Amino acid sequence: MELTILLALTFFLLMAWLFAKRGQNFPPGPNGLPIVGSIFALLNNPFQKLKEYADTYGPVYTLKIGPIWVIMLNDAATIQELFTTRSGEFSERPKLIADVTGFGENGIVLLPSGSYHKRQKKVAMSLFRDIGVGNEKFDHLLRPYLDSVMKSLPDNPCIVNIENVCSETVSNIIGGFTFGDKVYNDNSDVSQEIRKLIRQNFENNPILIVGNTYLPKKLCSLLGHFVDMENNISKMKKLLKRMMESHYFKKENKHQLNCFVPKYLEEYATSHAGEELWGNSKEENQLVGIIIDFFQAGCETTAVSLQWLLLLLAANPEVQTKIQQEIDDLFGEELPSLQQKSKLNYTVATMYESLRIRPSAPLGAPHCTKEDTTILGYQIPAGTPILSNLLSAQLNPQTFPDPHVFKPERFLDENGNICNLGSLLTFGTGPRTCLGEQLAKSILLSIVINILQKYTLRKKSEGCVDLSFQHGINLLATENELLFSPRTSQMDSEQG
Ligand code: HEM
Repeated sequence: MELTILLALTFFLLMAWLFAKRGQNFPPGPNGLPIVGSIFALLNNPFQKLKEYADTYGPVYTLKIGPIWVIMLNDAATIQELFTTRSGEFSERPKLIADVTGFGENGIVLLPSGSYHKRQKKVAMSLFRDIGVGNEKFDHLLRPYLDSVMKSLPDNPCIVNIENVCSETVSNIIGGFTFGDKVYNDNSDVSQEIRKLIRQNFENNPILIVGNTYLPKKLCSLLGHFVDMENNISKMKKLLKRMMESHYFKKENKHQLNCFVPKYLEEYATSHAGEELWGNSKEENQLVGIIIDFFQAGCETTAVSLQWLLLLLAANPEVQTKIQQEIDDLFGEELPSLQQKSKLNYTVATMYESLRIRPSAPLGAPHCTKEDTTILGYQIPAGTPILSNLLSAQLNPQTFPDPHVFKPERFLDENGNICNLGSLLTFGTGPRTCLGEQLAKSILLSIVINILQKYTLRKKSEGCVDLSFQHGINLLATENELLFSPRTSQMDSEQG
């Protein structure tokens, strides 16, 4: 009996504490239900519901996810103002995400803002350039992966599972870029397991990830699609550490490859008077955290973006024909190269249009306020989570007229040069902008020009290409198959 009273009292005190926060002056938003807030409304089709809220409440509204108050930003101008112009107040990461995912404050994505985050990002960017991202070394770096994907495609018109092609190719590229091709391939069972864990994490309902900060995991999995990210990330950490231990921390292998891990180890030793990183557990965790970021933030987002690009090309045959014309004029039968990117403006504009209409990370990554501040005159306390709804922002008719029409020309000026990128926020904006933007765009372009030089992509059966998406942290495509026709084939010209 005493225990029951004690539990009831504890419950009452807890609720009183949670609801005390309701008095705060936040922007308007849906009221939701007592205790759970809007969590039930967002379980089934979160992106559609968030869009409806944006239509009702405008560019900034408050969402209550249980006891947690989250500010949603829904248009490009507001996101840019807060994340870029006022980045000092709005570039923090909420600690609750580090806790619930088990990431801890390692890596780059979840590091608190400040000089350490800045330095780590600068080092990583300079190593990316050193490896070949954004320069003449890139074609060479990617060639083995491109050869392998082209070899895997059919000689005759055939339905291809593009989800598998995209996910396997991108994960091989990012794995090779991180560890070296040989190390990653030699561990193919580990690589497969990592891919599986990442995919599971991204199938999570984003609202339940926030909900998991105060609801027990068991309850979350009863409510909707919920995978225990903490458990998955802990498994990934072990696998990645093992992969590194089996190779790089043997002295003889340390400096031999043009990829991230050995270069990071070398940079560490140089900037720490020759001191070795391995053996220092804090620094080891930081390196493993960065690698988890590459896989977690880099693989699935890039693979999903590639899948959308292929689907949108199949859905827009006239766009595809123009790209093939551009590729044929420039390369003929020669191997395509990103060195000639400045002459591929229509193809580049098509990639941007695809990233606009289907941003693979539709809610970006969560930010939070660093200090007490104001938004539109509302007082917002330090530590309040802020989400940017990039999907809403990029489908806003005021920013992008006819937002649902696939129109690469919106990113081309009258001279055919790339323009209008200011409101495209697929990779975020401000000091927290994506570290891998250049790498991701180069991967997307390289793969697409290689595929379209040899193939025409079409829907797999009668009707339109299905461009609907499923819920998850990423905007996952429902359709995962397309018909690939070698460009010389009869069927290609018949279907064209
Ligand atoms: C098409 C593919 C990609 C998309 C759409 C994408 C999108 C994003 C977005 C929206 C953010 C959050 C920005 C913010 O907080 O405001 C982000 C952050 C980040 N991304 Fe990407 N990303 C992609 C590929 C990659 C790749 C390939 C890598 C690395 C290999 C990567 C590494 C990171 C990292 C480390 C951050 C955290 C940056 C920070 O906190 O300072 N991303 N990305």
